[in-house]
Amino acid sequence: MGFKSRLANKGPELSKVIAGVMKWGQWGAKLDTSDMARLIEQCVENEITSFDHADIYGGYTTEAEFGKAFAETSLKRDQVQLITKCGICYPCDERPEFGIKSYNTTKQYIIDAVDKSLENLKTKYIDVLLIHRPSPLMDLHEIAEAFGTLKAAGKVWYFGVSNFSTTQFDNLHSHVPLVTNQIEASLLQLDAFTNGTLDQCQRYHFKPMIWSPMGGGKLFEESDDFEFVQRRGRLKEVADKYGWALDEMAYLFLLHHPIRMFPVTGSSKLERIMLAKEAFEKQITNEQWFEIWTASTGQRVP
Ligand SMILES: NC(=O)c1ccc[n+]([C@@H]2O[C@H](COP(=O)([O-])OP(=O)(O)OC[C@H]3O[C@@H](n4cnc5c(N)ncnc54)[C@H](OP(=O)(O)O)[C@@H]3O)[C@@H](O)[C@H]2O)c1
Repeated sequence: MGFKSRLANKGPELSKVIAGVMKWGQWGAKLDTSDMARLIEQCVENEITSFDHADIYGGYTTEAEFGKAFAETSLKRDQVQLITKCGICYPCDERPEFGIKSYNTTKQYIIDAVDKSLENLKTKYIDVLLIHRPSPLMDLHEIAEAFGTLKAAGKVWYFGVSNFSTTQFDNLHSHVPLVTNQIEASLLQLDAFTNGTLDQCQRYHFKPMIWSPMGGGKLFEESDDFEFVQRRGRLKEVADKYGWALDEMAYLFLLHHPIRMFPVTGSSKLERIMLAKEAFEKQITNEQWFEIWTASTGQRVP
């Protein structure tokens, strides 16, 4: 199986590290086609074969840039796994029809969004489709119907959600099998560890994908927020004590959890994406994990 793992009992095999492309295009590094093609190839050469998209990334431009870049590589479609998301309506140049930022999870919207993603990514199928955010107006029957139609047409192989509460996940999962919940977790965002999200993953035998594992880059940015600076200072002290870099410690902390989550990296630099993979080769102790936890919360556990 190499550097792959199954996302759920009846789910796809993905690389244990997923390369997130949100900041590869217009929302970040603005890689040109040949640099993006090279980065895709380098990821695959290093066994990072799964890529995380959303239709909105780059203001609806990154999927198409990736599709164009992928076509310039010598890779075949079945050497990679493509994850994408839909459901957020984001007003921008590419979508002048959207008046304000909103969510749409109707059957027709989901089906049309997938057709656009397929066209942009220049592919016949999406490996995993996620509903990007729970909408207060979700109709679970409609979402399930959309998923059924897309599966029957061979356009999407597996389905999941992102940013869903445990109740929202449960409700949709009772209509249609879901293989993941893509959620935020990091040294700076600990909610998933205590709000039941990770427990639910264990109960249903699926693994979460973790977005913003570096706190969206906040871990490294200048800040004049006193509490944040103190928090980062405490985290840095633990990292220094064990000779870890802060980014390394951020991955070690996530990967210590028994659920074996899939980190979704955010960098557009190969060496930083590879840090996530390298973290699989190291282990921390239970006490070290709690030392990090205590540094992050600023409080000893009760
Ligand atoms: N489902 C959702 O709602 C959702 C939301 C947000 C993101 N995502 C997904 O999750 C992926 C990751 O999210 P993210 O971009 O927030 O991830 P992240 O890894 O937390 O943050 C990435 C940012 O941190 C910087 N960075 C990383 N390592 C660094 C280091 N050692 N030193 C200094 N800067 C460093 C990167 O800059 P460089 O590029 O310069 O390295 C980049 O700007 C996205 O690409 C997307 O696929 C999903």
